Amino acid sequence: MIPTIEWRGKTVRMIDQRKLPGKIEWYTCKGYKDVIKAIEKMVIRGAPAIGVAAGMGLALGALSIRVRSYEKFKDRFEEMAGRMVKARPTAVNLRWAVERMSLLVDAMAGKDVEETQRALKKESETILAEDIDINRKIGKNGQRLIPKKATILTHCNAGSLATGGYGTALGVVRAAHEAGKKGEVIADETRPWFQGLRLTAFELMEDGIPVTVITDNAAGSLMYQNKIDLVITGADRIAANGDVANKIGTYQVAVLAKENKIPFYVAAPLSTIDMGIKSGDMIPVEERQPKEISHFRNYEIGPSGVKILNPAFDITPNKYVTAIITEKGIAKSPYKAAIKRLFKK
Ligand code: MRU
Repeated sequence: MIPTIEWRGKTVRMIDQRKLPGKIEWYTCKGYKDVIKAIEKMVIRGAPAIGVAAGMGLALGALSIRVRSYEKFKDRFEEMAGRMVKARPTAVNLRWAVERMSLLVDAMAGKDVEETQRALKKESETILAEDIDINRKIGKNGQRLIPKKATILTHCNAGSLATGGYGTALGVVRAAHEAGKKGEVIADETRPWFQGLRLTAFELMEDGIPVTVITDNAAGSLMYQNKIDLVITGADRIAANGDVANKIGTYQVAVLAKENKIPFYVAAPLSTIDMGIKSGDMIPVEERQPKEISHFRNYEIGPSGVKILNPAFDITPNKYVTAIITEKGIAKSPYKAAIKRLFKK
């Protein structure tokens, strides 16, 4: 599998996910502002991948600061961190990574600037390596829930491309395959960005895992016909009570899964859980450009000037979530206590 993002000399490069699967093209970032732009414009997307990008972006920014005093360095760094954290509002991994980098700057108080810059670059590499390792652990924990032969529905892309590598929801699918299970994936196409059709299908085909794409509208009908055994998605933010923010359309999939008595699993690292947020209604939901819906590429498909709503995420209340799979184990209802226990492990 191609890496999602990596250091390349003094630059950070990432696969331009807007061009996949037609073109495998690298997008090179020379400064932290390039990384902010890449996150805003969906060159890189997926909660954990955005976190990794934010860490690397801030390291890039730190390396460009030309001052001698630690205090001046910290001021400049905090200004960059303040801009980075606003790149996208819903995925909490972005804020998590920015806070982790800022804490490191605090811990380097009194050290010389060059040493702090080196430490920040190293930290960004550690965030990437840890993310891949965490995803493998999520995969290992989650694959125990997968029967020997299963048809698994997923929404959006929570795969290698949405993370540092391996994936969360698709990490569970990959681990099940590695364990010899015969999993077959049904991928919702996931309008309006088609992450399911373009990215999930691409990744799984590369790995030789059987995948079939459906329109988002077909998921309920397939469940009703007993053609889906379980659902697994990723998450952009999970509240302390287990409510889940994920790609728009996840909520209806979860409700339909419960109606049809199909387990609905969410796979995510602990960095996606926001213990500062009590319930899902407090999670900010990103509203994106109307053009993403009214146009296909640059061709306008709707009546010109039509009013459009384009929320990028929705909230699935915890009562629809059968289990949350993390690197520290699996949480089940009642979620408040179960999630607290995961953080203590
Ligand atoms: O708008 P996107 O493509 O960044 O949305 C991505 C998702 O909703 C994913 O399901 C989520 O970030 C989990 S990725 C492991």
